[in-house]
Amino acid sequence: MSDLIATAGRRIRLHILRHNPQDPESQPHMQTFELEEADGMTLFIALNEVRETQDPSLAFDFVCRAGICGSCAMLINGKPGLACCALTRELPDDITLMPLPVFKLIADLSVDTGEWMRDMSERLQTWVQGSELERDLDRFEQTMEPQLARDIYELERCIECGCCVAACGTAHMRPGFVGAVGLNKLARFRLDPRDERDDAAFYQLVGNDDGVFGCMTLLGCEDMCPKQLPLATQIAFLRRKMARQGLKKNPEE
Ligand code: SF4
Ligand code: F3S
Ligand code: FES
Repeated sequence: MSDLIATAGRRIRLHILRHNPQDPESQPHMQTFELEEADGMTLFIALNEVRETQDPSLAFDFVCRAGICGSCAMLINGKPGLACCALTRELPDDITLMPLPVFKLIADLSVDTGEWMRDMSERLQTWVQGSELERDLDRFEQTMEPQLARDIYELERCIECGCCVAACGTAHMRPGFVGAVGLNKLARFRLDPRDERDDAAFYQLVGNDDGVFGCMTLLGCEDMCPKQLPLATQIAFLRRKMARQGLKKNPEE
């Protein structure tokens, strides 16, 4: 999407996958909407215009319109991305929009990433773990080295948009795979000095084919992450740690 396309007075066409699985009569089909491009138009603005002027039944999700909430992710000409950050002038006249794969379809471009993310978070226990933490708030709020805080913050920028999951071949084939988003979260808690889990505890959670060993280093996750998180580095780091932990558990191997 790097080459700008001349857009003055341009008509664009949105080809959108329409389907409502709640409606027994609904059959998946493509529907085309044509509209005039406005200055600075994003796909969010274009979709709203379609909904306001052509078809109020069109379903899609937006909350922040600023690349923060992660709710507007969809396939834009085949690639996962955030519709609120996608400028139409960087796209061709014909734009195909489809819902993110892997996640449960609600309708049209709206998918339920929340259910998938909650299940992954519960399985990986993505919160600071410590037996005394609840009773010892001072420890919970202890200061940490600025560089460590920055390293944790870097991984915490994830907005749970699901683009990395949609871009991952393993996630398409293996329903239980926690994806780069899950592995990134584990890497974040491994860094946190307040989290009392050791490598053996992390191994229990992701030392398996639904975790680090399911990753085939396809790298679509990092390429498509709209927050440019260093996902491949985190996964490689976890994999090395977990492989060492596995060898410790099975000394004959
Ligand atoms: Fe989205 Fe990136 Fe987080 Fe994946 S890691 S959910 S692509 S922000
Ligand atoms: Fe998937 Fe990323 Fe691994 S695309 S296979 S999680 S490197
Ligand atoms: Fe929040 Fe796009 S609407 S990220």
